[in-house]
Amino acid sequence: MTDNKELHRPRIVVIGNEKGGSGKSTTTMHLVVSLMKDGFTVGTIDLDARQGTLSRYLENRTRFAEKSKDVVLLPKHRRVFRSEAANKATSEEEDKDNLELAMHELWDRDFIIFDTPGSDNYLSRLGHSYADILITPLNDSFLDMDMLAKVEIEEKELKLTPSTYSQMVWEQRQQRAMQRKRPIDWIVMRNRLSHIDAKNKRDMGVLLEHLSKRLQFRLSPGFGERVIFRELFPKGLTLLDLGSDGAGVSMSMSHVAARQEVRTLVKAIGLTKDEPAI
Ligand SMILES: Nc1ncnc2c1ncn2[C@@H]1O[C@H](COP(=O)(O)OP(=O)(O)OP(=O)(O)O)[C@@H](O)[C@H]1O
Ligand SMILES: [Mg+2]
Repeated sequence: MTDNKELHRPRIVVIGNEKGGSGKSTTTMHLVVSLMKDGFTVGTIDLDARQGTLSRYLENRTRFAEKSKDVVLLPKHRRVFRSEAANKATSEEEDKDNLELAMHELWDRDFIIFDTPGSDNYLSRLGHSYADILITPLNDSFLDMDMLAKVEIEEKELKLTPSTYSQMVWEQRQQRAMQRKRPIDWIVMRNRLSHIDAKNKRDMGVLLEHLSKRLQFRLSPGFGERVIFRELFPKGLTLLDLGSDGAGVSMSMSHVAARQEVRTLVKAIGLTKDEPAI
């Protein structure tokens, strides 16, 4: 944070992977609320505007805030739709203009957080090109691992072929290096960790360690599989809001543990008040 408007530049965090349903929007909301509760100003951009999960999550939160007696923190939000122009050059130009306008409107914030779709498109790639920090939630299953790399065993040797998504991140890193920008801090977090399948959890852990060295990402602790995440969406709330007026959800031990997981993740990324990333 700086008082000098000329020098101010928000920290940009992109939540992305090309696999649907891995927890991007859920992670985005929790990260956003955590940052706001720590006193940071936050702007959010929904680059998955057609599906609009983050936008709907925030609409639900706005409705909750209107009824609540407590202060419910809200980010400044923008929803950027993909251009519908038939011509590729025109549509890319429009996407670029729309995204830059949204970012310009949020430039006074400490953080701008992007939620992205579970599939590749120009607008999403453009969003990734601005990332100071990229967070990739990964469902804790071997099926989802191929989003990072194809894993084969050849003559007892592990053969890893980076996925198109990992290659895209690599290309963005190359471009940033050429522009002498700070490298993207890429963080992979495991989501929906099962409490029962300990062996699967361990095997995934070993493979992810390999991948993290090869693809140059940091591994961070993630979230367990918990029903509460689905229940919070209609109210627009996160685990960090529980206990507030009208939330209507009493805190159980499981919720306390889940909330701790969120704080641990935010700390591992380096985005808590104690460890400001700027
Ligand atoms: N740790 C978890 N435990 C249980 N349910 C979860 C967890 N994380 C996410 N979910 C649920 O999984 C579903 C998909 O999550 P979410 O919408 O965050 O994923 P996404 O990656 O944004 O999906 P998409 O690619 O479609 O945008 C939601 O119903 C959400 O509540
Ligand atoms: Mg989503």
